[in-house]
Amino acid sequence: MAAVDAPTATGAPTLRVAPSILSADFGSLADAVAGVTPGTDWLHVDVMDGHFVPNLTIGPPVVASLRAHSDLFFDTHLMITDPARYLEAFRDAGADGCTVHVEVGETEALCAQMRDLGLRVGLAANPDTPFEALEPYLPLVDLVLCMTVFPGFGGQSFIADVMPKVARVRAAADTAGLTLDVEVDGGIDERTVVEATRAGANVFVAGSAVFRREDPLGAVRSILRAATDERAGAPS
Ligand code: DX5
Ligand code: ZN
Repeated sequence: MAAVDAPTATGAPTLRVAPSILSADFGSLADAVAGVTPGTDWLHVDVMDGHFVPNLTIGPPVVASLRAHSDLFFDTHLMITDPARYLEAFRDAGADGCTVHVEVGETEALCAQMRDLGLRVGLAANPDTPFEALEPYLPLVDLVLCMTVFPGFGGQSFIADVMPKVARVRAAADTAGLTLDVEVDGGIDERTVVEATRAGANVFVAGSAVFRREDPLGAVRSILRAATDERAGAPS
């Protein structure tokens, strides 16, 4: 897929909203995705195994079905205990990037496996997992996902205490000269995206603030506008 770009001329990473299908109508997913497509180039796909998190969602067959209807970059968030077993299946189904959780361990091997499969490499951390757990792996990844809720469910409240970790990830990437997407996921809307942008995040996952709205496309655009205004220094 396209949708993975070089940093902008100013060096600042591209701001983007990744709508999370977790909050969409699973009975008409393709329509839901088509509805937000004019506003973004990424789609966030939440995979849960009922073990790493207390909820079950979708697997490779749904990704493959959606792939036939969409050219968006599939940002696939694996909230599962044993990602090594399924990475190839997600790649084959059409995932563009996969993000595994640092809490499941074997991080270096998982990063190598994703790279070998041609996947964009993402690493996620729960709200209470410290920066130090991510730090050794920053040179191996393309994206760091700082969860701003405890994973498992949509519609939870944004945990602002995660912002110092976001800032440390961004600062460490800048210091090391790494081109890194820093993604936040959970409780993102027009208000919280401002805080996340200020801390250094550039990819904003939004589920309920997009798909539970009357106008999902308008919501994607207004969340992105809030982030863009914050970066430009405009009043929010
Ligand atoms: C939560 C998922 C999120 C979820 C976010 O475990 O990883 O991607 O869809 O939903 P909202 O935006 O409603 O908090
Ligand atoms: Zn997610």
